[in-house]
Amino acid sequence: MKFGTKAVHAGVEPDPSTGAIMTPIFQSSTYVQASPAKHKGYAYARGANPTRTALQKSLAALEDGKHAICFSSGMGATDAVIKLLKPGDEVVTSHDLYGGSYRMFKHVFEKYGIKFHFLDLTNIENALPYVNSNTRLFWLETPTNPLMNIIDIAAFVALAKKNKSLVAVDNTFASPYLQNPLALGADIVMHSVTKYLSGHSDVIMGALVVNDDNLHRDLHFIMNSCGAVPGPQDAFLVLRGIKTLHLRMDRHCSNGKKIAEYLAGHPKVGKVYWPGFADHPNHSIAKKQMKDYGGMLSFTLKNDSIEMATLLMESVKLFSLAESLGGVESLINHPVSMTHASIPKEERLKSGLLDSLIRLSIGIEDDEDLIGDLEQALEHVI
Ligand SMILES: Cc1ncc(COP(=O)(O)O)c(C=O)c1O
Repeated sequence: MKFGTKAVHAGVEPDPSTGAIMTPIFQSSTYVQASPAKHKGYAYARGANPTRTALQKSLAALEDGKHAICFSSGMGATDAVIKLLKPGDEVVTSHDLYGGSYRMFKHVFEKYGIKFHFLDLTNIENALPYVNSNTRLFWLETPTNPLMNIIDIAAFVALAKKNKSLVAVDNTFASPYLQNPLALGADIVMHSVTKYLSGHSDVIMGALVVNDDNLHRDLHFIMNSCGAVPGPQDAFLVLRGIKTLHLRMDRHCSNGKKIAEYLAGHPKVGKVYWPGFADHPNHSIAKKQMKDYGGMLSFTLKNDSIEMATLLMESVKLFSLAESLGGVESLINHPVSMTHASIPKEERLKSGLLDSLIRLSIGIEDDEDLIGDLEQALEHVI
């Protein structure tokens, strides 16, 4: 099946007891057993729930993977991956990853004896001095949040294979429509399902997709033991969101391109970070590993002051000033004080995350209206 057909049909069967075309919301915490331990595949809903099972099948199909496991948030999914590790293990990751991932790695897991190296992974050479026999995991996020850097997944997979390490890719920004890390050899794909997969800003959820049966068994064990599972209502909403993922992504991408080009030509705008530009430092890798460039972009103002950035963010009318991304409505965000506030300034500046950086999640509205809104907001900027 091609992607759009999978988005509509994968994992979803008419309900056998009623014929309902939509997967029912199985709002049940436990399941009656015919005799002890004899059941129909569902015993207690932390372990498995039929609405969640349908969603997991759909997610696995979208990523061309064998197994998917859903979690109560993207961070819950990431937490499960790091719990595969033991004290003394080391992780190579990037220095401009999502602030919440940085916070978890640094402030939750470092004290359990796991070592994280936060590096500029846009050039694989930078990672080489940090790879050793303790390197158990490469945690890649590409495109990165919020600077839209691109990391060469296939190149890191080759390095990891030589070192017998795992590669996990946070594929949230691209969505499975634009990028499939398992096909490039990665071991684990992580999604903040909250974003494009759900698509309507009404759910918090995460997911992992893998091919390897043993890895699936271990991650499922962690999920069931630690219990960060989502509820069936949310699974239903995401199943519904996924049916239009391909249509939404096409519009996010075309709007993203128009807005990136508009901002790049604006006299008050400094730098625009968008991997679709031919002069983006890793444009050729983005072109190789992504189907299109997505609806996320960031920019600075020529007048690089936090006051002007704030004025712009207070002046937009159609864009909503809010955290998160990937929904149908356009959002504007100030990473330094919002999504990335947990990253210390020295660490931020190393990756070029300036005080005045503004991040946009471009929705699926009409591009003329979005550009008109930015135009009027930029008029306030001196
Ligand atoms: C790239 C990325 N990864 C992970 C997360 C965390 O996901 P969640 O908010 O669903 O826990 C986010 C949230 O913004 C994100 O942007």
